[in-house]
Amino acid sequence: MSVATLHKYSTKEAEVLFLEFYGLIATATALPSERDLNFRMTSEAGQEYVLKLYVPETDMIWLDAQDKLLQELAQRDVDLPLPRIVQNKEGSTTKQIKDPSGEVRFIRALTWLDGEVWNKAAKTQALDFTQIGQLMGRMDVALKSFLHKGAQRSFLWDIAQAPAHTAFVHLIDDPATRTIVGSVLEKFEVQTASNLSRLPSQIIHNDANDYNILVDGNGVISGLIDFGDFIKSHRICELAVACAYAMLGQRDPVGRACDVVAGYHRVNPLLKEEIALLYDLIRVRLAESCCMAAQQYAADPGNEYLLISQKDVRELLTRMEQINPQVVHYRFRDVCGLEACNGSRKIVQWLSANADKIGPICQHDLTPDNVLVLDLSPLSVNDEGIPHSAEDATNVIFSLMEEANAAVGIGSYLEDRDVYKGDFFETVNPDEKRTVHLGIDLFLPAYEPLYAPLDGVVRVHNDNTRDYDYGPVVILEHKTDEGDVFYTKYGHLSRTSLELWEDGKAFKKGEVIGYLGPYPENGNWAPHVHFQILIDLMGMENDVCGVAARSEINVWSSVCPSPNLILGMKTKCQGSIVRNSKSIRGERSRHLSPNLSLSYSDPLKIIRGEGQFLYTDQGEKYLDMVNNVCHVGHCHPRVVAAAAEQMPVLNTNTRYMHDNIVNYARELLATFPDPLEVCFFTNSGSEANDLALRLSRNYTGSEDMLIVDHAYHGNLTSLIDLSPYKFNRKGGKGCPDHVKICPMPDGYRGPIKADDPDCGLKYADMAIEQLEALVEAGRKPAAFIAESLLGCGGQIVLPDGYLSKVYAAVRAAGGLCIADEVQVGFGRIGSHMWGFELQDVVPDIVTLGKPIGNGHPLGAVITTRAVADAFFNGMEYFNTFGGNPVSCAIGLEVLQIIRDERLQNNAGQVGQHIMDGLEQMLARHALMGEVRGRGLFIGVELVRDHDSLEPATAEASQVVNLMKDRGILLSTDGPLDNVVKIKPPICFSMEDADHFLREFDQCMSLIGYH
Ligand SMILES: Cc1ncc(COP(=O)(O)O)c(C=O)c1O
Repeated sequence: MSVATLHKYSTKEAEVLFLEFYGLIATATALPSERDLNFRMTSEAGQEYVLKLYVPETDMIWLDAQDKLLQELAQRDVDLPLPRIVQNKEGSTTKQIKDPSGEVRFIRALTWLDGEVWNKAAKTQALDFTQIGQLMGRMDVALKSFLHKGAQRSFLWDIAQAPAHTAFVHLIDDPATRTIVGSVLEKFEVQTASNLSRLPSQIIHNDANDYNILVDGNGVISGLIDFGDFIKSHRICELAVACAYAMLGQRDPVGRACDVVAGYHRVNPLLKEEIALLYDLIRVRLAESCCMAAQQYAADPGNEYLLISQKDVRELLTRMEQINPQVVHYRFRDVCGLEACNGSRKIVQWLSANADKIGPICQHDLTPDNVLVLDLSPLSVNDEGIPHSAEDATNVIFSLMEEANAAVGIGSYLEDRDVYKGDFFETVNPDEKRTVHLGIDLFLPAYEPLYAPLDGVVRVHNDNTRDYDYGPVVILEHKTDEGDVFYTKYGHLSRTSLELWEDGKAFKKGEVIGYLGPYPENGNWAPHVHFQILIDLMGMENDVCGVAARSEINVWSSVCPSPNLILGMKTKCQGSIVRNSKSIRGERSRHLSPNLSLSYSDPLKIIRGEGQFLYTDQGEKYLDMVNNVCHVGHCHPRVVAAAAEQMPVLNTNTRYMHDNIVNYARELLATFPDPLEVCFFTNSGSEANDLALRLSRNYTGSEDMLIVDHAYHGNLTSLIDLSPYKFNRKGGKGCPDHVKICPMPDGYRGPIKADDPDCGLKYADMAIEQLEALVEAGRKPAAFIAESLLGCGGQIVLPDGYLSKVYAAVRAAGGLCIADEVQVGFGRIGSHMWGFELQDVVPDIVTLGKPIGNGHPLGAVITTRAVADAFFNGMEYFNTFGGNPVSCAIGLEVLQIIRDERLQNNAGQVGQHIMDGLEQMLARHALMGEVRGRGLFIGVELVRDHDSLEPATAEASQVVNLMKDRGILLSTDGPLDNVVKIKPPICFSMEDADHFLREFDQCMSLIGYH
């Protein structure tokens, strides 16, 4: 029965059916569909459904399989954004009815999913394609053990059934497309199919196209629809379908496919064999699409829509002809975290281990005094850069070499250059050219001889005669002892070299293999040899890339490891790879732990810092107000100079005597009250706290610790145990037995308010209760540890009298008192150098970190002679890096800068100005609950209600993001994440403060709470 002559249900009829079979009054809206009828139904209660009416020949097994499949998915992965089946009044999912013309029809209903289809959403938002891969990966994981006989069918959209399409190829009207499709299908039959048949199979969705994926307003996938194409096939076909559609119409189709693959692999790891076939399978899917459209067009010749929708498919297939499939294969391997070029690492190891067996390639020593490394990047030897004409370039380069008295000029490996001309440096991505150099250039006079560095045979020889190409080029094939093959390539040689080469000719190590060419016969360059190692010729032979596109650099640096493995120069001859934000995020997700978070919804790539400012790769300038590490200002020139002066002289450990460590210890200790007189140097605040813990346990012979709620003291195992901020939050294992938590002395949110004259004493009593509980249990504290102002707790200033009362009680019980000054120390609070001084106490141990080295990894523990001596029990305290001459030079310089630039006073003045400004805003912005702090350690707690203190967490995050949009970096903290924290480098100026206050005021008005 033709679909055209079937009864077409009206929306009214759909509403009647829906009421009859589902018992729901709903309004129907017709949805576009090719064969079946679909209606969007909105019930009176506002719930939404899709009502589906199938054509008579619909197979019940197929419908049943869809129901079971959706049930399986709902059970296995409840969070997948999929529709749910709606049961009808009879409790079944599908109902057979007769339509008004007497035809049998099936009706079914599903829940409605909100969202815009991916295809449309992509026109207005930049979408993250890894989501598609993740979604389909999760689908396949959930469907892994699902079986249904309805999925075993012959189906033209199954990639594995591609040969069936051969019969339709002749129907494709465009000859070029016809040829491509024909060859794609042929390759599948001859090569791919048998490999595919060995790969894992299961039931797959098989239709992740950009009209079946829904996206919400934030660009997050909110649904996958249309389960009609499911099939039992190979799992990799699922991904191939998703990639094929993701690539359509994209400027960088392979980049988008890589995103999808990376997303899939993260949740459903692929086999190497699957990755190897993927690119071919994508092409097969596109070829199938052409055949299907041609077949449909033949049956319905007037249907121009079919041709329009095919435009992108044909265009992509044609572009894919220009793309090297091996490069794509390696890119897929790379985004899956595998070695991009299989075997590269092994060859690199062999070359490294056998360096003594490698001979020179030219007659000059490549010692540092005999080579000149040229800068051939855009910022070049002179302001105009290296001139492009071969003659000019030769003059410039060779006179530079002469000036430097260097026999050889060097062009670096992985240098990103602007010197390449010629359309063969274009890529299929219109936004990208090939610019990154994969070899090392040796600039030498024309006709100088070159030698084989190892035994090898001629694998490729040619005269590449285009301008800016290689001219005469030879590639030798070498073998390792284990028989692994690799290649060395020599480009830009002389025509006289051509006579030396013939296929398979063997060269012994040290034999002349060619001569440097003069321009223009060398490709029209200044005379040099382009020397490159290759692990794989990528099917490109004499055209194998010597220069790569940035987006392919992971692949090409694996295919072409550093030529210096053979040249053995001691001089730096490798450029650094600059990546865009997307690439960095991809690399982070593949090679770094996901535990490392990024700040802001749209993270920043910061490339430079100066004073209180940070600059992004996009040239944007940010005022940094959350950096108590780069304390005296980012990249302070005096700190940089201190490091640069000491680093070339000596850096070693504390087992040798050095001035720096003692001079630094003296100056640092001079800032502490007696009896704090001994220093230990560490590499971080965490190490300092861990050592403080060991010192106190050693001194007291006890294990137990008293801590303050919500504190964070560091990332070591011992300190996670002391950090409720970690152990009581996500992923934490709760409070350990040896730890007692004292309530946070929070005069704003805690039970005792700041206006209580005994606030500090009462909170101290609460801490003492914990101490007493410990003592009553027959135990004794090793120490009480607290920050001198509470950082993670929400920038809280301790109430007067708190520490002195707690310290007295702890000491009376035999414990020590540790002040963690990792966040607040070094003059930040303005009135004092150290936070504990605000409380009129002297701790037994003080720990230092963050600001101490202005960004250099450094930490310290300051303690008494008695505690230090007790620790001297025969076991050496050795810290490889702690206290090294470079670190000490830096630490010393930081101390002197704080003094010389009067930064402590500055922190006090500017901090007070900010506090005053913020306090004036309290009356204007109801969201602002409390402003607190000292110096440049300030918190603004946001609340929705001043009585209930309901935290304004979302608003705090909103204000931070708004401020970021205005070029000011802040963040939130506190147990409820509703405290805006302010702790800029202490060189922050009054002008910066006023700028901040103006912007903050405006942002608070924008999010104002009514
Ligand atoms: C109060 C406090 N103590 C200790 C540490 C740990 O310092 P680091 O990260 O240098 O190990 C931190 C770090 O945030 C901290 O805020």
